[in-house]
Amino acid sequence: MELILASNNKHKLEEIRAILGNEYKIVSLNDIGCHEEIPETQDTLKGNALQKASFIYERYHKNCFADDTGLEIEFLGNQPGVYSARYAGEHCSFEDNMNKVLAEMGDTNHRKACFKTVIALILDGKEYFFEGRVDGEILRERHGREGFGYDPIFQPIGYQKSFAELSAEEKNRISHRGRAIQQLANFIKNLK
Ligand code: IMP
Repeated sequence: MELILASNNKHKLEEIRAILGNEYKIVSLNDIGCHEEIPETQDTLKGNALQKASFIYERYHKNCFADDTGLEIEFLGNQPGVYSARYAGEHCSFEDNMNKVLAEMGDTNHRKACFKTVIALILDGKEYFFEGRVDGEILRERHGREGFGYDPIFQPIGYQKSFAELSAEEKNRISHRGRAIQQLANFIKNLK
């Protein structure tokens, strides 16, 4: 089965291909010659995931899926949430975003947070959704060099290491995106 992933993010493609295995051909936007900026203007993860998948389905009429992820921090009223990529402003870096979170958290002991990923899948015009979540806490400073985004300041429950101190395999096994992809994989493997 061939599925288009509405992204060109290499890291995501590798992670998804590793979980789904060889039976599924996961094709990127570059692979199908789509070089347009896909709009992502909704105010929920589900809305954004569906917006991205629908954009591709409407243009290419091929089965596809898209994901959207947010970091929700209790002390910040569940921000940055759907705005995680540009929390410190348009075109900001991962470092800028982490600096903003650490500054806003100050030395509070209320540090609970979770990552959530929603995947929207469109198969023959029908929409399906999958969600993955991992709970943890925001550290007081950065730890580790692996991963990306907020990984150096997020420590999953039950671990004494940040996401940026785990190997890619360890992180994928427990991460929000890993869990959402696993659900997608279970669903499409049961379609046959
Ligand atoms: P996206 O929806 O996958 O593009 O994720 C939105 C933003 O959430 C990214 O720009 C990152 O800042 C953050 N993010 C997503 N996934 C992760 C992760 O696995 N670790 C750390 N940060 C992440």
